[in-house]
Amino acid sequence: MDFIDLKKQQNLIRNNIDDRISKVLNHGQYILGPEVKELENKLSLFSKSKYVLCCSSGTDALLLGLISLGLKPNDGVIVPSFTFASTAEVVCMLGGVPFFSDVNIDTFNICENSILKSISEAKRQGVKLKGIISVGLFGQPCDIDNIIEIANRHKLWVLDDAAQSFGSSYKNKISGNLCDISATSFFPAKPLGCYGDGGAFFTNNEHYYKIAYSAHLHGMGSNKYEYDRIGMNGRIDTIQAAILIEKLKVFETELINRDKLAKYYKKQFLDLGTNIKLPKLISGATSSWAQFTIQLPLKCDREDFQIKMKEKGIPTAIYYPIPLHCQKPYKKFPISSDKLKNTNLLSKCVISLPMHAYLSFEDIEYISKNAHDIINN
Ligand SMILES: Cc1ncc(COP(=O)(O)O)c(C=O)c1O
Repeated sequence: MDFIDLKKQQNLIRNNIDDRISKVLNHGQYILGPEVKELENKLSLFSKSKYVLCCSSGTDALLLGLISLGLKPNDGVIVPSFTFASTAEVVCMLGGVPFFSDVNIDTFNICENSILKSISEAKRQGVKLKGIISVGLFGQPCDIDNIIEIANRHKLWVLDDAAQSFGSSYKNKISGNLCDISATSFFPAKPLGCYGDGGAFFTNNEHYYKIAYSAHLHGMGSNKYEYDRIGMNGRIDTIQAAILIEKLKVFETELINRDKLAKYYKKQFLDLGTNIKLPKLISGATSSWAQFTIQLPLKCDREDFQIKMKEKGIPTAIYYPIPLHCQKPYKKFPISSDKLKNTNLLSKCVISLPMHAYLSFEDIEYISKNAHDIINN
């Protein structure tokens, strides 16, 4: 059994992908070929976001977001600590200051109370806050209306890191279109992944889009070798765009499957009466179920659980064993006055079980029965 089985999907759509790749090989426009615009138009229709810019990775999509928002050295940005490195890394790359805040224990997503505490603490410490990066961890979007309301009150922008949550929805809006700017990743294991690196930047604001567009082409101005700003090589490869066009065709069906599978996981664990905490969705939200992450009882030895699951042929993963604020390069940055209690706790008890759109109900029965037996023994 694979943790994320990419082969099953490939077997299903391999011929179409081969055709698409052949077309690129035939026309030879490997950089900014017509597939890039085609994908951007399709992602715009899917997310209902007016402007979509495909780029080199999820990390670069976040970076382009911060460049568009005009982040300057020493500007502060509220970020969760319970996330992948990229969320905070991009702030540091522009000389900004990540201000680490706590997450909700039930949803794994940034906590509004902790944001408010960070805002007060930043004032006390003299950090000039400019924005908030929300992260839809494991596939569920944040309760973004509440975050936007706080942001508006404090004149902050909101950038949504939807690397994991692209395809989810919040109050009938698709992630990618929930706030000022969103960023997603097409890393192969993501709900919508390519066969290499890729990402996308989403906004309804033409000004932000124009800056991001220029920045992803080295800061290009109206002529090719004339520059308006310092930029980067942030382009997506045409071949990756071609692959994504085919993958996007099955994405909606895959999201429905993932949701059914997540519900089946929950039913199995509830029927077994397993002593674990199951992932919870906030009202009005759907998840793209990038991960199915449970919380083990604290008395359960997580390493031992992982070894025993492996002995049964079940791969598991721990996202994330060490929160960012405890890691060497990030220790120097400020944290919310609540000391990130939930983050610290979650980093000790979370574990993710196999999840992908082609998992079977039988696989889930096998995984949940074994997990239950290991926890109970
Ligand atoms: C929450 C989060 N943000 C950003 C990224 C970065 O995406 P990429 O690997 O495409 O740069 C990831 C990827 O793992 C992620 O999980």
